[in-house]
Amino acid sequence: MIRCEHVTKVFNKGRANEVVAVRDVSLEIAEGKVAVLRGPSGSGKTTLLSLIACVARPTSGRVFVSGKEVSKLPENFLTSFRREHVGIIFQQFNLIPELSVLDNVTLPLVPTPIPPRESRKRALELLRRLGMEKRSSFKVRELSGGEQQRVAIARAMIANPRIIVADEPTAHLDTKLAEEFLDIMRSLKQEGRTIVIATHDPLVYEHEIVDVIFDMRDGMLVGVERR
Ligand SMILES: Nc1ncnc2c1ncn2[C@@H]1O[C@H](COP(=O)(O)OP(=O)(O)OP(=O)(O)O)[C@@H](O)[C@H]1O
Ligand SMILES: [Mg+2]
Repeated sequence: MIRCEHVTKVFNKGRANEVVAVRDVSLEIAEGKVAVLRGPSGSGKTTLLSLIACVARPTSGRVFVSGKEVSKLPENFLTSFRREHVGIIFQQFNLIPELSVLDNVTLPLVPTPIPPRESRKRALELLRRLGMEKRSSFKVRELSGGEQQRVAIARAMIANPRIIVADEPTAHLDTKLAEEFLDIMRSLKQEGRTIVIATHDPLVYEHEIVDVIFDMRDGMLVGVERR
């Protein structure tokens, strides 16, 4: 489902501030599994996640997602591939505070041929599943942190992606909300979706849904723990 072959990502290549954020990483994540990228701050988790999520391309090496070599796709194809195949839950949620919950959730479908009525229907169904239907017309800025998290999850799911990536998803949540987040991930796993989470939260990586942990240090993959 996801395969990285000798993937390296260099920022500011050739300049004084050059950073090798990910260095020669090879890994494989099978369909339907939950994988964790674990490591200290600056170890390259977010960078590797962005390569897997088709947000960025590696400087060298190859990335395969759902059987396609995404590392060689031109930017515009990479964007449309991502829209269809990957749902992303960002650390800061990246929601638009002044827009309604419903408009935030349907936003990723605006550039697609899916008609607004269908987007709305899908969004309401997702919000219902997440216990958020009563909040659909609220502005995002009127929501609590945990509610915003669920809006971010609904938005990541709106295109019905087979792959979900989440960057430090529990960083702003208390224990109870973090447990709720993991419950939602469990149900997405039960639907056969593949999930990749960057985290250093033990509540996440010690959770029973996790199948494999990739340990990162200084951009390198230094250990693999299979459950
Ligand atoms: N856009 C960028 N431009 C330049 N350097 C970057 C960029 N993004 C990340 N880096 C650098 O790459 C390294 C890895 O960063 P990354 O964000 O992937 O780490 P991380 O493991 O997610 O850390 P954290 O736990 O703090 O989120 C860091 O040294 C960082 O400064
Ligand atoms: Mg990070």
